[in-house]
Amino acid sequence: MDAGKEEQWRSHGRLVLIPLPFQGHINPMLQLGSILHSKGFAITVLHTAFNPPISSDYPEFRFVSTPDNLSNQVISTDSLLYFISLINVKCRVPFQECLARMVEQGREEKEEIACVIYDECMHFSEAVAEHVKLPSIVLRTTSASTYISRNAIVRLEAEGFLTSQGSTSQELVPGLHPLRFKDLPVSKIGIPEIFLRFITDINKTRTSSSAVIWNTNDVLELPTLQEIQKQCHVGIFPIGPLHGVAPASSSSLIKEDKSCITWLNKQVENSVVYVSLGSLASIDKEELVEMAWGLANSNQPFLWVIRPGSVDDLEWNKLLAQGFTEAVGENGCIVEWTPQKEVLAHGAVGGFWTHCGWNSTLESISEGVPMICKPCFGDQRVNARYVSQVWKIGLHLENICDRGDIEKTIKRLMVDEEGKEMRQRAKYLKERVELSVRGGYLNELIELIRSF
Ligand code: UDX
Repeated sequence: MDAGKEEQWRSHGRLVLIPLPFQGHINPMLQLGSILHSKGFAITVLHTAFNPPISSDYPEFRFVSTPDNLSNQVISTDSLLYFISLINVKCRVPFQECLARMVEQGREEKEEIACVIYDECMHFSEAVAEHVKLPSIVLRTTSASTYISRNAIVRLEAEGFLTSQGSTSQELVPGLHPLRFKDLPVSKIGIPEIFLRFITDINKTRTSSSAVIWNTNDVLELPTLQEIQKQCHVGIFPIGPLHGVAPASSSSLIKEDKSCITWLNKQVENSVVYVSLGSLASIDKEELVEMAWGLANSNQPFLWVIRPGSVDDLEWNKLLAQGFTEAVGENGCIVEWTPQKEVLAHGAVGGFWTHCGWNSTLESISEGVPMICKPCFGDQRVNARYVSQVWKIGLHLENICDRGDIEKTIKRLMVDEEGKEMRQRAKYLKERVELSVRGGYLNELIELIRSF
């Protein structure tokens, strides 16, 4: 680090970032860190010992690991909210002690901490920052529409709108066009207590943090953001997609298999279907077999991520050995993890079969790649609906996984006129989003942080 830069960082101060320890949350937080670092702030990532970020990917940051007693936890999508609530209980004291030491150290080194930026799910951080007399900013890593729909669920139940049908109801939700009841993160009567607590906890920050940074932008969600701003007493800064502003860097917890890029280099432009269900979703063996044969029968080349542990049968390889490998030959490439942003930017990729995690959705939009949406849980259903109905850049695969449906949907997206129109709309949206990230929110945010 040259002396001039070090001097500049000292003048802007140090920011402490607190990510939720999951891939879909670590990525946007580190991207935000990179952006703010490039604007002259020093960065410390204060993280759990569970699922730590890979510090060698960001040599210019300081990483501080905090004991959390979480390391033996096995997480499934069903236990996710329970786990988030556990993190918030277990991390508060050790993080507070650690932050207090950092404040002390900062004073000794004459490098003040300007503020704490925390993932909305690490909501204990707000009280911790307050305790050591630091301002805090919340980072929201899901879409603004997800935020609105989560909040609406409590109202909908109180008003008697939620039925026992829940996740199958096609009816539109009053006031949440174009969401149907089946698209809500929770859609049945009898909302689990843990979900109610989750909403209450992440919403507390609406009034007590100094600002909200949102990984979205006006082009994608202006009306929703305006509605939220009306209810929020502090400024909202929709500076996403963060990966589009941040200098390119990986924050993968799983090793990326770059051989898939060599395979993509051999494929025809816009011909490949890229398939990935993110870092948490899993499928059973019947779904795996239907997906495999739907892909094979479509005759489209495909790149498929099958993450370790993402199929409920550890011997899934044997299931695919039954004729599938011969049927596909060189037309398919299966890997455990890809450099996803590079994959989506590759000219050979013409469609993305995604679970619609918010990062994957934003990454696809940023590369103008139309989607096949197969949401698995929570916010993914809301995102899928926006992709297919609002931005009209994808098809929603709604039925249970069936190889015939899959084959038809792939052909609709990759071959038919309908798919070509979606690709054009996706390219147009990409351009508009690209232009919007150059907007003024980032400068305003930096001014705010410097004013603390
Ligand atoms: C989780 C939730 O499941 C999701 O609904 C929420 O919106 C964010 O947190 P996850 O399921 O992992 O995230 O999905 P997503 O948000 O898409 O994040 C996955 C990240 O992993 C993306 O940034 C993607 O680029 C990266 N990835 C995925 C890879 O780098 N390589 C892969 O092979 C697959």
